[in-house]
Amino acid sequence: MKRRNLLSLAALSAAGTFLGGCSRGGGNTGLAFTNRLRIPPLATSQTGADGAKRFALTLLPGGRSEFLPGRITMNTWGINGPYLGPTVRAARGDKVRMTVTNRLPETSTLHWHGMRLPARMDGGPHQMIEPGATWTPEWTIDQPATTAWFHPHLHERTALHVYRGLAGLFLIDDPAGPRLPSRYGVDDIPLIVQDKNLDDDGSLPTGGVDEGTFGLLGNTILVNGTYDPFLEVTTELVRFRLLNASNARVYRVGFADNRTFDVVAGDAGPLPGPAPVDRVKISPGERIEFVARFTAGETVVLNSRGEPEKAANDIEEDDFDLLKVVAAGRLAPSDPLPATLGGTATVAAPAGARTRRFALSGSEINDKDMDMTRIDEVVPAGALEIWEIDNTTYAHNFHIHEVAFRILDINGAPPPAYQAGPKDTVFLAKKAKARLLVQFGEFVDPAAPYMYHCHLLRHEDKGMMGQFVIVEPGSEDRIPRTIPGGHAHN
Ligand code: C2O
Ligand code: CU
Repeated sequence: MKRRNLLSLAALSAAGTFLGGCSRGGGNTGLAFTNRLRIPPLATSQTGADGAKRFALTLLPGGRSEFLPGRITMNTWGINGPYLGPTVRAARGDKVRMTVTNRLPETSTLHWHGMRLPARMDGGPHQMIEPGATWTPEWTIDQPATTAWFHPHLHERTALHVYRGLAGLFLIDDPAGPRLPSRYGVDDIPLIVQDKNLDDDGSLPTGGVDEGTFGLLGNTILVNGTYDPFLEVTTELVRFRLLNASNARVYRVGFADNRTFDVVAGDAGPLPGPAPVDRVKISPGERIEFVARFTAGETVVLNSRGEPEKAANDIEEDDFDLLKVVAAGRLAPSDPLPATLGGTATVAAPAGARTRRFALSGSEINDKDMDMTRIDEVVPAGALEIWEIDNTTYAHNFHIHEVAFRILDINGAPPPAYQAGPKDTVFLAKKAKARLLVQFGEFVDPAAPYMYHCHLLRHEDKGMMGQFVIVEPGSEDRIPRTIPGGHAHN
């Protein structure tokens, strides 16, 4: 009890200095690392008579979260708790059935970002869950091991719902995959990074999320909902699953001593082999899995450092400390990192692949705002296509539901090795052009669209989103381009 009080007093004064001495958007590198990193609990499941793993997720308002020690942030939103959600973990081949109940005072949805599944199970803007209602999607997991995640996707309200706290991880294991550290919370550590603006009294104002060019860029970083965190590690190798669940902020993550670490997977699955780096860039919606090596007794800070050439991206990349890693005095030995990870080497675009072009402007794609009744693209099942994303303005990114893609090139150059694996979201700096080789799936449904959009949530909400359907090959010309009665959100 006494020790606890001391700790929170120390944290309180550190937080006080920070809040008083730091200007908005100016970054923060003066952390004291006082709070133990929160690890989201694993969601429990029950196996039904049909063999499906059943998970129950309830969207809850009215959370009380103590981000700044001693100061309670009222009315955060969470899934099965006051802020963020539990981590869902399942394996390739599992049939899963989700029971999603909405206890919020407003309509929401829950989208499985990075999951290959039928469009009606996707949780996009068409799968609205009214207050008090329950939605029960189910599907069989059939994709490589990955770090996916879930968050609301209500048309025009995604930024607010995510900012208030609705997001969680969905880990997919592949029993046939390589052996990587996988003891959750021990040597397999989730890092959900988000930036917030907290008022001096600890409250979470939401005003800025739908203002300005990029929406809100916060000056306080939370990792798994923890402010000023430290993590004790007890093994030589630790796998981190980094998710940028921020509304707009881009991070360049590495260690303060610039040590090398190995990226093992990107958004949508494993790399062919470990990619050594000393820094990785991650934009909203992206995930990067990496394995770092520690020596007994050391401490090292994980941080984010803006590009040396700040102007290059046209979006603020301030300097932040993220997490202090404290290695125990004795570390349990880890299996060596496998030399191959199961991902296939980058594929070249097949001759004759269809190319579609998407020009990104301020908040439109191909000069159009999102229209929930319009089908923008019709794609034959199983297609392998080139999608050319041409950013004509300031920084954006581009996410495609259901698919996995490879970055063929960005501004004509191949991507760095750590981004060469399967992905579902790509960052586009100011005026950048990316060519993606997109592998579409097989769930045909001419009347239920998937989304593609900018994952800077302010932009997505403003209409920087389009819809595609996957159809029987050969039927493309017969597919209606409007969704009859397709509910426009009020
Ligand atoms: Cu993470 Cu369409 O979303
Ligand atoms: Cu954008």
